[in-house]
Amino acid sequence: MSRLQDHMMGLHRELDERLFVHQQALLDRDVAAAARALAHCRELLALHMADEEEFVLPRYALGGGDATDAPVRLFLGEHQRVREFLDRFAVALAAMSSPPDDRRLLELLDLQATFKNLLLHHDLRERNALYPRLAAMLTAQDETALLGRLRVQPS
Ligand SMILES: [Fe+2]
Ligand SMILES: [Fe+2]
Repeated sequence: MSRLQDHMMGLHRELDERLFVHQQALLDRDVAAAARALAHCRELLALHMADEEEFVLPRYALGGGDATDAPVRLFLGEHQRVREFLDRFAVALAAMSSPPDDRRLLELLDLQATFKNLLLHHDLRERNALYPRLAAMLTAQDETALLGRLRVQPS
């Protein structure tokens, strides 16, 4: 696995973990903790998507990514949907009583099931197409330079 893939997949795991912590707080009916955990998740996701949009996807397009079955617009469209879901979650949480009403809580969890499905598809598309194809387009030096530009640095 390339350093790029390794870094990005580690980040995706961290994002899943933050979402899990958020949902755990929902199961505990702790609305304040759920809101904090959601903000934590959103923060990393926003930076990661910005890195992809600014540095990863343009380089992939330059290397011919748009001529494949995974063109840049697919990734951008999924990022847009991810942002819309996260906004909806924040609005739903802000409107939630503490402790939350059963119906509201279940509505949010249902919405998040759809979101997790979107994330899963996005993860697979990046894991199987974007990251390996981009890594194959880059020299070791280019890869180092690209990794150096990212806002979210390998830990
Ligand atoms: Fe990603
Ligand atoms: Fe992405």
